Amino acid sequence: MPLIEVEHLRKTFIRAERRPGMLGAFQSLFARSGHEIIAVDDVSFQIAAGEMVGYLGPNGAGKSTTLKMLTGILTPTAGRIAVGGIMPHRRRVDHVKRIGVVFGQRTQLWWDLPTIDSFELLRHVYRIPLDRYRENVRIFGKLLDLEPFLNTPVRQLSLGQRMRADLTAALLHDPTILFLDEPTIGLDVVARERIREFLLEVNRKRGMTIVLTSHDLADITRLCPRVVLIDCGRVIYDGALEELRRRHGRRRTLVVDLADSAQLPTVPGVALLRREGLRIWLGFDRDTISAADLIATVAAQCPLRDLSVEEPEVEAVLRAIYQGAAVDLVPA
Ligand SMILES: Nc1ncnc2c1ncn2[C@@H]1O[C@H](COP(=O)(O)OP(=O)(O)O)[C@@H](O)[C@H]1O
Ligand SMILES: [Mg+2]
Repeated sequence: MPLIEVEHLRKTFIRAERRPGMLGAFQSLFARSGHEIIAVDDVSFQIAAGEMVGYLGPNGAGKSTTLKMLTGILTPTAGRIAVGGIMPHRRRVDHVKRIGVVFGQRTQLWWDLPTIDSFELLRHVYRIPLDRYRENVRIFGKLLDLEPFLNTPVRQLSLGQRMRADLTAALLHDPTILFLDEPTIGLDVVARERIREFLLEVNRKRGMTIVLTSHDLADITRLCPRVVLIDCGRVIYDGALEELRRRHGRRRTLVVDLADSAQLPTVPGVALLRREGLRIWLGFDRDTISAADLIATVAAQCPLRDLSVEEPEVEAVLRAIYQGAAVDLVPA
């Protein structure tokens, strides 16, 4: 049985809108009209114990909302979630014992307390046995090099230090599942790499199931053999990262440096993926048009300075999806 089951999950929000032009004390009572926002439309997936899955999609796709439902913070509007057989929002107390949660944008540590005091408080909150607690602080302390700032108030930590402390805080009670929302956001390259190594370690050594969202594609290629891609609240791909690359093996990108910006080339069946100044990226399917034919067609339409053909990288596919380009994800 899968550890995490999500079926036809949906979450809508009603955003209150005030109608202009109405005055008086009753305004807030009567002048609001609800505008429904579909944050998660229809999402289904299953995750087995021990998997490390990347949950990806462009801004506003519904990633954080899904994670909030998985962690029990939000109640689904419709659909079903079962994590280890229980519904997160129905049995939050039981649920939080088994999960660790890190939202990169906020901390669960006490701002004014030394880092170690936050850990101590969490020991009481989660009733962690003293020996387990000490062992975990020792292990995570070593893996994440916490020693230099254990006695520093959280407000004084660098972003990278704070993230290492937050990861530790999320794992002190030995959860079996870890949910991470943008865990490397704002971190420098070295700090990112340290977090990645740590996640690989807890996944391999502890068999921890990890679901993470990230805008850093290096996080995903490094950590996640499987990705679930969502867009507008719906799953558009669920499978191996490698398969995504294979499936897009037919896709190529022609990078063109135009001599001037007077005119952009238009070729039927060829998508303009990206544009930066005089450089444009054209996506084409090599089964439909050869690179040589495409180059000849483009050159006939506009004066060119330079061009090159790029092989598809998983990064390129994901980047295109993030940037909202029309990427054909239907199985070949
Ligand atoms: N509490 C909320 N109230 C109203 N709209 C929300 C709320 N939370 C999220 N949304 C909207 O739902 C959509 C999905 O948001 P989110 O799940 O945060 O996306 P992502 O994490 O993929 O960027 C967005 O349009 C966002 O503005
Ligand atoms: Mg988000």
